[in-house]
Amino acid sequence: MLKSDNPESFPSCLFAPDDRDAFNHYLVKKKLSGCRFFILVDKNTKKHCVDKLIHSFPVLENQNIIKVPAGEENKTLDTCVHIWETLAKEYAERNSMLINLGGGVITDIGGFTASVYKRGILHCNVPTSLLGMVDAAIGAKTGIDFAGLKNILGTFRHAGITYVDPAFLQTLGDDHMRSGFAELLKIALVADKELWLQLQNLHYKDIPGNTDIIAEAVKLKEKIVDKDLLEHGLRKILNFGHTIGHAVESFSIEHDKKPLLHGDAVAIGMICETWISNKVTGLPDAVMKQIIDKIVGVSGKFKLKIKGKEFMRMLHNDKKNAGSKIMFTLLKSIGEASFDNHFDDNLIFDSLKFYSNL
Ligand SMILES: NC(=O)c1ccc[n+]([C@@H]2O[C@H](COP(=O)([O-])OP(=O)(O)OC[C@H]3O[C@@H](n4cnc5c(N)ncnc54)[C@H](O)[C@@H]3O)[C@@H](O)[C@H]2O)c1
Repeated sequence: MLKSDNPESFPSCLFAPDDRDAFNHYLVKKKLSGCRFFILVDKNTKKHCVDKLIHSFPVLENQNIIKVPAGEENKTLDTCVHIWETLAKEYAERNSMLINLGGGVITDIGGFTASVYKRGILHCNVPTSLLGMVDAAIGAKTGIDFAGLKNILGTFRHAGITYVDPAFLQTLGDDHMRSGFAELLKIALVADKELWLQLQNLHYKDIPGNTDIIAEAVKLKEKIVDKDLLEHGLRKILNFGHTIGHAVESFSIEHDKKPLLHGDAVAIGMICETWISNKVTGLPDAVMKQIIDKIVGVSGKFKLKIKGKEFMRMLHNDKKNAGSKIMFTLLKSIGEASFDNHFDDNLIFDSLKFYSNL
């Protein structure tokens, strides 16, 4: 089952402050119909976000809170087991709702656990990180990391509603704002030149004062997902930067004490894949330079530790591959991407060299 039930036909995404009453109405209706709420948080969203949420939505008072450890390294089966055990211990019924209050790790793992518990209970996403708001909480992909590979277990399952409140960003650290900004740049690069031009004049620090940018990114992603939920074609454009990005990120999670953030890994991937686009899909030199300058200007540069064999192992396990072929989304121009590109492995290694020499 792909769709969570949203029988009242509320829009799939609501934005604070304008839609606060609509989300409240949805929750109250659910409660009146016997729904019990479970709020999934990590250490940081328990500290910074849960009281704000309950203050805005008193219907959530005295509901069960499930706390899991923060961070990508905890997007694991062990964390799922903890969530499932808690739901079972609390006798969560089929009509319970899991409210995922957090960044992309919480919405990914919460969506996944909800989608299989009792063959699927309803979940709502309340993203609290920039990356969650513009990307992870939208589009029905859920998942966890497994066997050292990113998002290798997962489901497609719509949230009942995603409620985006940019006020949560007030407590988000700079590094996570930077990481989320990379996904904003990505959606602009693959789908909307106008948004890219707007982002040219913005830094991640400007986002809390320009929250309409978040709504624009959400609409762009929803439009793409609506046309191709299961990623048979068009949706693949959202993977720009993610083929190399996921390999670099998976390696870092396995080897580094302080792993690369998802958006930082995607920023590395986007730079390499922009360089490859210049060679394969004819992205003009000047455009390549403009893109790379912007990404480096915001995300900075990281030391790449990943080496040949290990890198190929990660790339060959990528979900986006077709058979043994590693598939890439590349840019033709700003706002126009092409998917299912395959080319010689040497070009992949050369792109890493290019990045290291920047
Ligand atoms: N499902 C999808 O379509 C999709 C798309 C993109 C990314 N993702 C996934 O999203 C994850 C990355 O998401 P993320 O960057 O949000 O990571 P995250 O969930 O780890 O959040 C980042 C950090 O910020 C903290 N935090 C979150 N909100 C806060 C707030 N308001 N105040 C203070 N601290 C706060 C978290 O506790 C965490 O420590 C990755 O696992 C990635 O694979 C999924």
